[in-house]
Amino acid sequence: MKVDGTDYRTIWLNDDGWSVGIIDQTRLPHVFTTLDLKTLDDAARAIRDMWVRGAPLIGATAAYGMALALRDDASDATLATATDVLLATRPTAINLRWALEEMEKVLSPLDPTERVAAAYKRAAEICDEDVEINAAIGKAGLALIEAIAARKPTGEAVNVLTHCNAGWLATVDWGTATAPIYMAHNAGIPVHVWVDETRPRNQGASLTAWELGHHGVPHTVIVDNAGGHLMQHGKVDLVITGTDRTTATGDVCNKIGTYLKALAAADNSIPFYVGLPSPTIDFRVEDGVAEIPIEERAMEEVSRLTGRTDAGTIATITILPDGSPAANPAFDVTPARLVAGLITERGIVDANREAIAAAFPERV
Ligand code: MRU
Repeated sequence: MKVDGTDYRTIWLNDDGWSVGIIDQTRLPHVFTTLDLKTLDDAARAIRDMWVRGAPLIGATAAYGMALALRDDASDATLATATDVLLATRPTAINLRWALEEMEKVLSPLDPTERVAAAYKRAAEICDEDVEINAAIGKAGLALIEAIAARKPTGEAVNVLTHCNAGWLATVDWGTATAPIYMAHNAGIPVHVWVDETRPRNQGASLTAWELGHHGVPHTVIVDNAGGHLMQHGKVDLVITGTDRTTATGDVCNKIGTYLKALAAADNSIPFYVGLPSPTIDFRVEDGVAEIPIEERAMEEVSRLTGRTDAGTIATITILPDGSPAANPAFDVTPARLVAGLITERGIVDANREAIAAAFPERV
């Protein structure tokens, strides 16, 4: 996508042919800046400290992290330790494990002298595949938005509610939840997005609003608790979120608060869809609530807020009383029964075991 007229992906190989460029997402929306990853530790830190985030981008960064590790030492031991280091960064998004398994499949049969080139090649492919997958998700989801637009008076916007950032910043390009929105907007269909701010880290307010604004998509940021009210008043036509891990049975794990949006959508007969690239399906998990590990993040993310002061500086403030503890589970699970459909690169798939297996038989 474009940032001030320049095409960007969220991750790229630099001109030196080995270091990896990323957008520092911790500084958005106030500062757009890029960083270079040069070592395995850089890549691990980028994921852990959320310079990059979003399930597909976490996977892509891990793939390049493996390539950076092998530059120093392409032995079997490095393959194993780099996998462990990267896997330990964030527990919930399955794309991390998926990408490392993809790398392992290609790299472990090779002679160490062949591994570095092969690692960079597979990492680049993972990035390109992600862009293709998201473009296909966009086309499949566009049909949903077109159908709603066709039922509305000419010129009236389709109102989509989204949670967190499953936009291009969370992927290599396009986004998952946002791909249908960008495609509808590009096709001239009036679309308006309700952007949940997404406490505690505010990925909606800071990232989704930033990227929609840069692409010219009409949007309004709302506090996380506003969605149900808007739904009751007919102001939401469709909910589309992303996912960090979707089970073989269609349970959807995504940013904390997604479940409450799905409940409110069900109560108001509003379709709740999920943009789902196939690497985000975890066929080893059956029951999302019982089995998916939920990342517990630092309580400072709840107790403190960072933003721009009127003087234009970036400042962090404390909003809790001294001594009050905070809890910070980062994800929740929406049971499959609340999901109207999974928008995948192979079309809209029902959120149940049979439909998911039929759409991706080679992954089962
Ligand atoms: O904690 P984050 O910012 O990595 O969480 C991101 C999300 O929850 C996204 O919705 C999800 O990763 C899907 S991204 C296409």
